[in-house]
Formats: sequence, C-alpha cells, structure tokens
Amino acid sequence: MTTTALRVHDLRVTAASPDGPSYPVDGVSLHVGQGEILGIAGESGSGKSLTLKAILGLLPPGLTATGTLQLASGDGELAPYQSHQVRGAGVGMVFQEPMTALNPTMRAGDLVALAARLHGRLSRRASRHRAVELLRQVGVPDAERRAKAWPHQLSGGLRQRVMIAAALAAQPRVLLCDEPTTALDVTVQHQILRLLRWLADEHGTGMIFVSHDLPVIAQLCDRIAVMYAGRFVETGYTRDVLTHPRHPYTAALLRAAPSVDQRGEQLAGISGQPPDARAFPAGCRFRPRCPLARDDCAHAPYEIQPVAAEHGSACIHHADLEVRTA
Ligand SMILES: Nc1ncnc2c1ncn2[C@@H]1O[C@H](COP(=O)(O)OP(=O)(O)OP(=O)(O)O)[C@@H](O)[C@H]1O
Ligand SMILES: [Mg+2]
Repeated sequence: MTTTALRVHDLRVTAASPDGPSYPVDGVSLHVGQGEILGIAGESGSGKSLTLKAILGLLPPGLTATGTLQLASGDGELAPYQSHQVRGAGVGMVFQEPMTALNPTMRAGDLVALAARLHGRLSRRASRHRAVELLRQVGVPDAERRAKAWPHQLSGGLRQRVMIAAALAAQPRVLLCDEPTTALDVTVQHQILRLLRWLADEHGTGMIFVSHDLPVIAQLCDRIAVMYAGRFVETGYTRDVLTHPRHPYTAALLRAAPSVDQRGEQLAGISGQPPDARAFPAGCRFRPRCPLARDDCAHAPYEIQPVAAEHGSACIHHADLEVRTA
C-alpha cells in the first residue's frame, strides 16, 4: 500500500451561463499515492484540464468548483484543503505549452529562482543557486549557462524542463501534468516521460498525468482513469484497464489508438461526437455512441462499480463486453 498524497472527492465544476448552469466536470473522485502516477485519458472536451485546474484553484472566471480535497501533510496525514490553498502548498502544475506558461520576460534561471524564493523564503543569491541545482536535476545540460537564457532561446524540451524545475522548486507532493509532452517530438517526449517517472520513483512525487495518448499513458502511468463527458467511466491499474477494458468507451478508445505498444498518433475514429456539457444525455452519457446500448442505459447510475480487484466500471452491461486482449 502506498501512502495517499492527494484525495479528491466528488469534484464538480459549474459553468454559469444565461441558459442555466452546466457541469463540465461532474462528480469526479480520485486518489494519488506517493510516487504513483495516475493517468487521465479521454477525448477533447471531456473535462481533463478543468479537473486539474479545479484541483489547483486555477479555474477561469465564470467557473466554480465544489467537492472536497485532501492533501498529505508533513506527517503523511491527509488534511482538507481549499483548492486555492493547494498551490504552492504541495501541488504543482506543468502545462502542455511551456512557451505560454513561462513568463517570456524572465530568464529561465530567474523563473525557477522566483519559484524557489516564494516557496523557501530564500535570499536572492541562495535562490539562484537553488535554481541552477534544480535545472541540473531535471536534466538541463550546462545548467549554469542555460539559466541565463530567455524562454524563446530554449528548445521545446528544455522549456518543458524549466517548467518542471519551477514546479519542483515548491517541493510539491503532487504534480499535475496537463499533456506536458504533446507539443514535443517523440525523442524529447521520451526523455520528459523518463524524467517524470524518475521524479515519482526517486522523490516520491505523486502525479496526475492528463493525456489523450493511450500509448503514453500505458508506458508511464500506474493507474488510469478514463474520462467521458465530465465523469470517470473506468478506473484501475493501467495494465488491467488497457488489456481488459470493462467500459465500451475504453474499448472504443483502444480500438482508435494505433496500439498501446506503438508510439503515437492521436486518438481518432470513434463514431459520433462527445456531447456538449450543456446537453449531457440522461443516464449513461456514452449511450448515444455505444454499440452495446440498451433501453436501461438511459437510467444507469453513473457511479463506478467494482468489476474486478481494484478495477471499476460505470457500465451496467460491462459483463457483456467481450474481454479483449490488446
Ligand atoms: N471557460 C469555460 N467556460 C465554460 N465552459 C468551459 C470553459 N472551459 C471549458 N469549458 C467546457 O468544459 C469542457 C471540458 O473542457 P476541458 O478543457 O477540461 O477539456 P479537456 O478534456 O482538457 O480537452 P482537451 O483534450 O481538448 O484539452 C469543454 O468541452 C467546454 O464545454
Ligand atoms: Mg485539456
């Protein structure tokens, strides 16, 4: 058993609009252990990014979150948190496009130093040392010199490492990663994934890794949560879920992915569109696109039910799903 680093219960994001509220994230619960990487997979618009932003208290204006958050404190005990308190107090975030997330008017080393200074109440000098140390730790070659570079002078991979170093400066227990490798070429992507795995294994950092790329999740993540229309539809150990999917949506994602053994392409090819948050269907939200749908799916509860050890599915007809081996 790993020690739980972060626990989220019944997270709901409400979007206000003149037509009434909608809930793009609608009852998400999850937990992340120390040194564990949880992958969240799902099509565009399923609510992955909003889930991470809600956990961090970084929702854009007009969106509000409810639910409970607990984070491990110094002695490892879980304590409740408000989302806006979590930032800098144990949870860090790495975004997809480091160029837009990094302040273009600050040198790489200063960005990391600022994060270190805010967190550790370090002097300017000490924080500059710490920044170079962190850049070195995340594999920035010639860190002393690179610390003086502007973001636009660095490659995409190096920029992503700078962002990871800045996130690590606050010594987070949990790192939230939103498609951090999608904008990178395959070789650099590999290096960043290795770095994240190393941080989890060696530093015990817990992580949530959002991606629509199942092969990447298969390679990196210990557990996976498959998200559809604001809810988790299947959860479990990555291996179990990807080799024996128990939700038709997961099975469809797998069929659409090139192969979990291959690197690669984006998910495509599930017929139909994911529903808009303002018009989610009643019952199972995948029902309109599901090959197994029956009348009773319109009344299906959304809670995930256990289907095997540590493996849950929200599909009431999961037993009918032909067990397929990827
Ligand atoms: N600022 C906003 N105001 C209102 N609704 C929003 C806002 N941002 C996102 N949404 C709604 O929430 C849904 C989920 O958005 P989110 O960014 O979490 O998706 P995602 O799973 O991260 O998709 P992608 O893979 O494209 O990044 C969107 O489809 C949209 O309907
Ligand atoms: Mg997103």
